[in-house]
Amino acid sequence: MKGVVLAGGLGTRLRPLTRVTNKHLLPVYDKPMIFYPVQTLVDAGIQEVMIVTGGNNAGEFLRLLRNGEDFGLRQMHYTYQKTEGGIADALSLTRHFVGDDKVVVVLGDNFIQGSIRKAVEDFERQPEGAKIFLKEVEHPQEFGVAVLDGDKVTRIIEKPEVPPSNLAVIGIYMYDKNVFEICSALEPSSRGELEITDVNNAYIRRGTMTYEIIDGWWADCGSFEALLRSNVLVAREKGVEV
Ligand code: DAU
Repeated sequence: MKGVVLAGGLGTRLRPLTRVTNKHLLPVYDKPMIFYPVQTLVDAGIQEVMIVTGGNNAGEFLRLLRNGEDFGLRQMHYTYQKTEGGIADALSLTRHFVGDDKVVVVLGDNFIQGSIRKAVEDFERQPEGAKIFLKEVEHPQEFGVAVLDGDKVTRIIEKPEVPPSNLAVIGIYMYDKNVFEICSALEPSSRGELEITDVNNAYIRRGTMTYEIIDGWWADCGSFEALLRSNVLVAREKGVEV
Protein backbone atom coordinates (compact mmCIF):
# COMPACT_ATOMS: atom_id res chain seq x y z
CA MET A 1 0.00 0.00 0.00
CA LYS A 2 1.36 3.41 -0.98
CA GLY A 3 0.48 6.76 0.61
CA VAL A 4 0.00 10.11 -1.10
CA VAL A 5 -0.44 13.56 0.47
CA LEU A 6 -1.83 16.24 -1.85
CA ALA A 7 -0.38 19.64 -1.03
CA GLY A 8 -0.67 21.55 -4.30
CA GLY A 9 -3.14 24.30 -5.11
CA LEU A 10 -2.86 28.00 -4.40
CA GLY A 11 -4.91 28.23 -1.21
CA THR A 12 -6.67 31.31 -2.56
CA ARG A 13 -9.39 31.18 0.12
CA LEU A 14 -6.68 31.79 2.76
CA ARG A 15 -5.10 34.90 1.20
CA PRO A 16 -3.17 36.90 2.38
CA LEU A 17 -1.85 34.04 4.57
CA THR A 18 -0.98 32.12 1.40
CA ARG A 19 0.32 35.00 -0.72
CA VAL A 20 3.96 34.13 -0.07
CA THR A 21 3.77 30.58 1.22
CA ASN A 22 1.98 27.30 0.59
CA LYS A 23 -1.13 26.64 2.72
CA HIS A 24 0.26 23.31 3.94
CA LEU A 25 3.30 24.99 5.48
CA LEU A 26 1.14 27.16 7.77
CA PRO A 27 1.15 26.25 11.47
CA VAL A 28 -1.52 24.13 13.09
CA TYR A 29 -0.79 24.46 16.81
CA ASP A 30 2.83 23.25 17.14
CA LYS A 31 3.55 21.77 13.71
CA PRO A 32 3.30 22.72 10.04
CA MET A 33 -0.04 21.55 8.59
CA ILE A 34 1.56 18.94 6.28
CA PHE A 35 2.92 16.98 9.28
CA TYR A 36 -0.57 15.79 10.28
CA PRO A 37 -1.63 14.00 7.07
CA VAL A 38 1.84 12.43 6.76
CA GLN A 39 1.51 11.17 10.35
CA THR A 40 -1.98 9.79 9.58
CA LEU A 41 -0.44 7.63 6.82
CA VAL A 42 2.52 6.52 8.94
CA ASP A 43 0.21 5.63 11.87
CA ALA A 44 -1.77 3.47 9.44
CA GLY A 45 1.39 1.44 8.74
CA ILE A 46 2.25 3.01 5.39
CA GLN A 47 5.99 3.28 4.76
CA GLU A 48 6.15 4.68 1.22
CA VAL A 49 4.79 8.22 0.97
CA MET A 50 4.74 10.72 -1.89
CA ILE A 51 4.00 14.44 -1.44
CA VAL A 52 2.42 16.27 -4.38
CA THR A 53 3.09 19.97 -4.11
CA GLY A 54 2.97 22.96 -6.41
CA GLY A 55 2.40 26.69 -6.43
CA ASN A 56 4.37 28.73 -3.92
CA ASN A 57 7.44 27.52 -2.07
CA ALA A 58 7.43 23.95 -3.35
CA GLY A 59 11.14 23.63 -2.50
CA GLU A 60 10.40 24.32 1.18
CA PHE A 61 8.72 20.91 1.46
CA LEU A 62 12.08 19.23 0.91
CA ARG A 63 13.77 21.42 3.49
CA LEU A 64 10.97 20.74 5.98
CA LEU A 65 10.28 17.03 5.48
CA ARG A 66 13.74 15.99 4.19
CA ASN A 67 13.84 12.19 3.93
CA GLY A 68 10.97 11.67 6.33
CA GLU A 69 13.16 10.96 9.36
CA ASP A 70 10.76 12.87 11.68
CA PHE A 71 8.23 10.15 10.85
CA GLY A 72 10.58 7.17 10.95
CA LEU A 73 10.55 6.84 7.15
CA ARG A 74 13.63 5.82 5.16
CA GLN A 75 12.79 8.07 2.24
CA MET A 76 10.24 10.69 1.22
CA HIS A 77 9.05 10.96 -2.41
CA TYR A 78 8.04 14.23 -4.07
CA THR A 79 6.38 15.40 -7.25
CA TYR A 80 5.34 18.80 -8.58
CA GLN A 81 1.93 19.94 -9.91
CA LYS A 82 2.47 22.74 -12.41
CA THR A 83 -1.08 24.15 -12.41
CA GLU A 84 -4.01 24.08 -9.99
CA GLY A 85 -5.68 21.37 -12.05
CA GLY A 86 -7.69 19.85 -9.22
CA ILE A 87 -7.35 17.04 -6.71
CA ALA A 88 -7.68 14.27 -9.32
CA ASP A 89 -5.06 16.01 -11.50
CA ALA A 90 -2.65 16.09 -8.52
CA LEU A 91 -3.32 12.40 -7.85
CA SER A 92 -2.59 11.51 -11.52
CA LEU A 93 0.99 12.70 -11.02
CA THR A 94 1.65 9.80 -8.63
CA ARG A 95 0.86 7.09 -11.20
CA HIS A 96 4.43 5.80 -11.60
CA PHE A 97 5.07 5.91 -7.85
CA VAL A 98 1.91 3.91 -7.04
CA GLY A 99 2.28 1.46 -9.93
CA ASP A 100 0.04 -1.58 -9.45
CA ASP A 101 -0.33 -1.09 -5.68
CA LYS A 102 -3.33 0.26 -3.83
CA VAL A 103 -3.06 3.82 -2.53
CA VAL A 104 -4.32 5.89 0.41
CA VAL A 105 -4.69 9.55 -0.56
CA VAL A 106 -4.90 12.27 2.11
CA LEU A 107 -5.64 15.91 1.33
CA GLY A 108 -2.86 17.99 2.87
CA ASP A 109 -5.32 20.21 4.76
CA ASN A 110 -7.38 17.42 6.37
CA PHE A 111 -7.04 16.21 9.99
CA ILE A 112 -8.70 13.41 11.88
CA GLN A 113 -8.65 12.60 15.56
CA GLY A 114 -8.54 8.83 15.27
CA SER A 115 -6.55 6.28 13.29
CA ILE A 116 -7.42 4.84 9.90
CA ARG A 117 -5.27 1.75 10.47
CA LYS A 118 -8.17 -0.73 10.72
CA ALA A 119 -9.88 0.70 7.63
CA VAL A 120 -6.62 0.48 5.67
CA GLU A 121 -6.27 -3.17 6.70
CA ASP A 122 -9.89 -3.81 5.64
CA PHE A 123 -9.18 -2.14 2.29
CA GLU A 124 -6.09 -4.32 1.78
CA ARG A 125 -8.46 -7.31 1.92
CA GLN A 126 -11.09 -5.65 -0.34
CA PRO A 127 -10.61 -7.37 -3.72
CA GLU A 128 -11.00 -4.21 -5.81
CA GLY A 129 -12.46 -0.72 -5.90
CA ALA A 130 -12.32 2.19 -3.48
CA LYS A 131 -13.19 3.17 0.07
CA ILE A 132 -14.16 6.58 1.46
CA PHE A 133 -14.84 8.00 4.91
CA LEU A 134 -17.95 9.97 5.84
CA LYS A 135 -18.66 12.29 8.75
CA GLU A 136 -21.84 14.03 9.87
CA VAL A 137 -21.37 17.80 9.61
CA GLU A 138 -23.43 20.93 10.24
CA HIS A 139 -22.71 22.60 6.87
CA PRO A 140 -22.59 19.80 4.28
CA GLN A 141 -22.90 22.25 1.38
CA GLU A 142 -19.18 23.08 1.85
CA PHE A 143 -18.10 19.53 0.97
CA GLY A 144 -18.72 16.50 -1.20
CA VAL A 145 -21.97 15.02 0.19
CA ALA A 146 -22.92 11.33 0.10
CA VAL A 147 -26.32 9.88 -0.75
CA LEU A 148 -26.80 6.50 0.97
CA ASP A 149 -29.20 3.67 0.25
CA GLY A 150 -28.87 1.10 3.03
CA ASP A 151 -25.23 0.09 3.22
CA LYS A 152 -24.36 1.52 -0.23
CA VAL A 153 -23.28 4.99 -1.31
CA THR A 154 -25.34 5.68 -4.43
CA ARG A 155 -23.95 9.10 -5.35
CA ILE A 156 -21.70 11.93 -4.19
CA ILE A 157 -22.57 15.52 -4.98
CA GLU A 158 -19.85 18.18 -4.78
CA LYS A 159 -20.87 21.20 -2.68
CA PRO A 160 -24.63 20.91 -3.33
CA GLU A 161 -26.78 23.98 -2.67
CA VAL A 162 -29.43 21.71 -1.18
CA PRO A 163 -27.55 18.84 0.51
CA PRO A 164 -29.22 15.42 0.21
CA SER A 165 -27.75 14.36 3.60
CA ASN A 166 -25.46 15.74 6.29
CA LEU A 167 -22.72 13.19 5.52
CA ALA A 168 -19.59 14.90 4.17
CA VAL A 169 -16.96 12.94 2.27
CA ILE A 170 -13.73 13.62 4.12
CA GLY A 171 -10.41 14.11 2.35
CA ILE A 172 -9.00 10.60 2.85
CA TYR A 173 -9.56 8.16 -0.01
CA MET A 174 -8.42 4.61 -0.78
CA TYR A 175 -8.15 3.35 -4.35
CA ASP A 176 -7.03 0.35 -6.33
CA LYS A 177 -4.77 0.76 -9.37
CA ASN A 178 -7.77 1.53 -11.64
CA VAL A 179 -7.85 5.06 -10.21
CA PHE A 180 -5.33 6.30 -12.78
CA GLU A 181 -7.32 5.07 -15.74
CA ILE A 182 -10.43 6.74 -14.19
CA CYS A 183 -8.53 10.03 -13.67
CA SER A 184 -7.28 10.06 -17.26
CA ALA A 185 -10.87 9.86 -18.58
CA LEU A 186 -12.15 12.85 -16.50
CA GLU A 187 -13.30 16.17 -17.95
CA PRO A 188 -12.74 19.44 -16.01
CA SER A 189 -15.69 20.58 -13.88
CA SER A 190 -17.35 24.00 -14.02
CA ARG A 191 -14.57 25.31 -11.71
CA GLY A 192 -12.00 24.06 -14.27
CA GLU A 193 -10.65 21.23 -12.09
CA LEU A 194 -10.48 17.44 -12.30
CA GLU A 195 -12.70 16.56 -9.35
CA ILE A 196 -12.09 13.76 -6.87
CA THR A 197 -15.88 13.49 -6.54
CA ASP A 198 -16.04 12.41 -10.22
CA VAL A 199 -13.45 9.70 -9.46
CA ASN A 200 -15.53 8.49 -6.52
CA ASN A 201 -18.74 8.50 -8.58
CA ALA A 202 -16.98 6.36 -11.22
CA TYR A 203 -16.24 3.72 -8.55
CA ILE A 204 -19.86 3.96 -7.31
CA ARG A 205 -21.11 3.29 -10.86
CA ARG A 206 -18.84 0.23 -11.05
CA GLY A 207 -20.35 -1.02 -7.77
CA THR A 208 -16.96 -1.25 -6.04
CA MET A 209 -17.14 1.66 -3.57
CA THR A 210 -17.29 0.96 0.19
CA TYR A 211 -17.48 3.52 3.00
CA GLU A 212 -17.02 3.96 6.70
CA ILE A 213 -18.43 6.63 9.02
CA ILE A 214 -15.61 7.91 11.23
CA ASP A 215 -15.73 8.44 14.98
CA GLY A 216 -13.92 11.40 16.48
CA TRP A 217 -13.51 14.82 15.00
CA TRP A 218 -12.50 15.70 11.47
CA ALA A 219 -11.36 19.10 10.29
CA ASP A 220 -10.04 20.70 7.14
CA CYS A 221 -8.28 24.04 6.73
CA GLY A 222 -9.97 25.39 3.64
CA SER A 223 -11.19 28.63 5.25
CA PHE A 224 -10.04 30.93 8.08
CA GLU A 225 -12.72 29.50 10.38
CA ALA A 226 -11.70 25.92 9.54
CA LEU A 227 -8.00 26.73 10.08
CA LEU A 228 -8.76 28.28 13.47
CA ARG A 229 -10.95 25.33 14.44
CA SER A 230 -8.20 22.86 13.45
CA ASN A 231 -5.69 24.72 15.64
CA VAL A 232 -8.09 24.61 18.60
CA LEU A 233 -8.93 20.91 18.13
CA VAL A 234 -5.26 19.89 17.86
CA ALA A 235 -4.25 22.03 20.85
CA ARG A 236 -7.08 20.59 23.00
CA GLU A 237 -6.02 17.08 21.94
CA LYS A 238 -2.66 17.88 23.53
CA GLY A 239 -4.28 19.05 26.76
CA VAL A 240 -3.93 22.78 26.11
CA GLU A 241 -6.82 24.93 27.36
CA VAL A 242 -8.00 27.21 24.55
O1 DAU B 1 -11.95 18.63 2.76
C1 DAU B 1 -12.78 17.69 2.15
C2 DAU B 1 -13.28 18.18 0.80
O2 DAU B 1 -12.12 18.38 -0.03
C3 DAU B 1 -14.23 17.16 0.15
O3 DAU B 1 -15.44 17.04 0.91
C4 DAU B 1 -14.57 17.59 -1.28
O4 DAU B 1 -15.37 16.61 -1.90
C5 DAU B 1 -13.29 17.78 -2.09
O5 DAU B 1 -13.58 18.26 -3.39
C6 DAU B 1 -12.38 18.78 -1.38
O6 DAU B 1 -13.01 20.05 -1.43
P1 DAU B 1 -12.25 21.47 -1.39
O7 DAU B 1 -12.89 22.39 -2.36
O8 DAU B 1 -12.20 21.89 0.04
O9 DAU B 1 -10.78 21.12 -1.90
P2 DAU B 1 -9.58 22.15 -2.08
O10 DAU B 1 -9.65 22.76 -3.44
O11 DAU B 1 -9.51 23.06 -0.88
O12 DAU B 1 -8.32 21.18 -2.04
C7 DAU B 1 -8.05 20.37 -0.91
C8 DAU B 1 -6.58 19.95 -0.94
O13 DAU B 1 -6.27 19.26 -2.16
C9 DAU B 1 -5.61 21.11 -0.85
O14 DAU B 1 -5.32 21.34 0.50
C10 DAU B 1 -4.43 20.65 -1.66
C11 DAU B 1 -4.97 19.60 -2.61
N1 DAU B 1 -5.01 20.10 -4.02
C12 DAU B 1 -6.10 20.83 -4.46
C13 DAU B 1 -6.15 21.31 -5.75
C14 DAU B 1 -7.34 22.09 -6.25
C15 DAU B 1 -3.95 19.83 -4.87
O15 DAU B 1 -2.96 19.18 -4.45
N2 DAU B 1 -4.00 20.31 -6.14
C16 DAU B 1 -5.05 21.03 -6.64
O16 DAU B 1 -5.02 21.41 -7.84
